[in-house]
Amino acid sequence: MTKETKSDKDYSIYFQPPSLKDAKKRGKEEIAVLYDFAIPEELKLFGAGKSYMIRTYGCQMNENDTETMKGLLEQMGYTETEDKEEADVILLNTCAIRENAEDKVFGELGHLKHLKTRNPGLVLGVCGCMSQEEAVVNRIMQKHAFVDLIFGTHNIHRLPILLRDASFSKESVVEVWSKEGDIIENLPRKRSGMKAWVNIMYGCDKFCTYCIVPYTRGKERSRRPQDVLAEVRDLARQGVQEITLLGQNVNAYGKDFDDINYLFGDLMDDIRKIDIPRIRFTTSHPRDFDDHLIEVLAKGGNLVEHIHLPVQSGSTEVLKLMSRKYTREQYLELVGKLKAAIPNVVMTTDIIVGFPNETEEQFEETLSLVREVGYDNAFTFIYSPRDGTPAAAMEDNVPMDVKKRRLQRLNDELMISARASNLKLKGEVVEVLVEGESKTNPDVLAGRTRTNKLVHFAGPKSLEGKMAFVRVTEANTWTLKGELVEEPLQLSV
Ligand code: 5AD
Ligand code: SF4
Repeated sequence: MTKETKSDKDYSIYFQPPSLKDAKKRGKEEIAVLYDFAIPEELKLFGAGKSYMIRTYGCQMNENDTETMKGLLEQMGYTETEDKEEADVILLNTCAIRENAEDKVFGELGHLKHLKTRNPGLVLGVCGCMSQEEAVVNRIMQKHAFVDLIFGTHNIHRLPILLRDASFSKESVVEVWSKEGDIIENLPRKRSGMKAWVNIMYGCDKFCTYCIVPYTRGKERSRRPQDVLAEVRDLARQGVQEITLLGQNVNAYGKDFDDINYLFGDLMDDIRKIDIPRIRFTTSHPRDFDDHLIEVLAKGGNLVEHIHLPVQSGSTEVLKLMSRKYTREQYLELVGKLKAAIPNVVMTTDIIVGFPNETEEQFEETLSLVREVGYDNAFTFIYSPRDGTPAAAMEDNVPMDVKKRRLQRLNDELMISARASNLKLKGEVVEVLVEGESKTNPDVLAGRTRTNKLVHFAGPKSLEGKMAFVRVTEANTWTLKGELVEEPLQLSV
């Protein structure tokens, strides 16, 4: 029997379907922190002589999870390959945030099908946020029955066992936990390069009405401060130059501790004392951005003067429908405080256009907010209904052509403010963390400023992974060009 014939079966006997309804529940159960993870002895050579490839979609949280999965696979003896034709294991680490993210994954599954025909030993797996949705799991089981393994965001640590089961099973192995599990501290990680992500918390309890994340990533759980600090110190010892602290809502860090009073501002204040040149964080929710955190960020040093502060809309009424829990005025007040406290702060944001009922006037309030804040960059999106979220029950009544035009007008406005702030840098010397050769010209180096702006300049390859000082000679909308200079006595940015 081939797997393609499975579509008329009752799959419930093979797996517990995931449930967004269960995922919505926020229980009071204790989250345990475990330090005793180990790959089962008999699986340590399971992947010897075999290779894997992981394709990652979506946000940094997924990139972060991919590093863990790579670590797990390498502890099983697998080696990484870039060539899908030769891979013995292919995993798609998926994103569910918008419909087009999901479409990309289904498209890729279509492309990968022929590999399964050519190489029946290939284990093809789907994991990440899409796996947490019952509709997606059902669709894969029915239309893409050649997929061998489906697991979710809460049971990544089970990968070695699930992979073994999928390799030996004639049926697809599906294991998705609708509820978050414990925090496992000692999972292996495969990191590379001079930059690293450090997860400080998992999950989100904000339940913005359009967003699937609180369902796919579970309730807010913060890592213990000593575990985060130990990891950052360890990265410092390894010579890592830049760390991004990660969480869906980093400002809620520590709110779930009931034995200690230690919030995000406290964590930043401790991390600031560790010898790493740059510390960033993402993503912030304006509602939880407190004055203590602003005070700590104002101390500067390795805490960079770049804040990504998603606004989503400039209209208080739309923000209310989105359940963002702040008004336009409160957001602008927070931006005012940040600008006053942190000289040269660069603000970036996320914005959704075409939310249900968004009127022309309300959209124009977003444009005027963009003008008022003067963002240096933004991720802009057309609203996309997500099954199971409250907004999906609202009528998606802004026509697509109107949404597209609004997105274009918004992007035009952002280009104006991005260009204006880059122009201010002309002639200034900036500190650049050199990432490597430019993608388009091997004679040119590419790197990023403390405020995350891309800079191109000519210089020796030996600078890769190091800090360089560059005078800006040309300012474009999204990139800067410059020339290498000696370290200045004082930096302007
Ligand atoms: N439609 C469009 N954009 C969305 N985002 C989250 N959910 C949706 C959705 N349903 C955007 C928000 C968020 C970013 C990560 O993705 O702007 O900040
Ligand atoms: Fe989604 Fe809102 Fe949580 Fe961000 S804060 S992950 S937009 S629910």
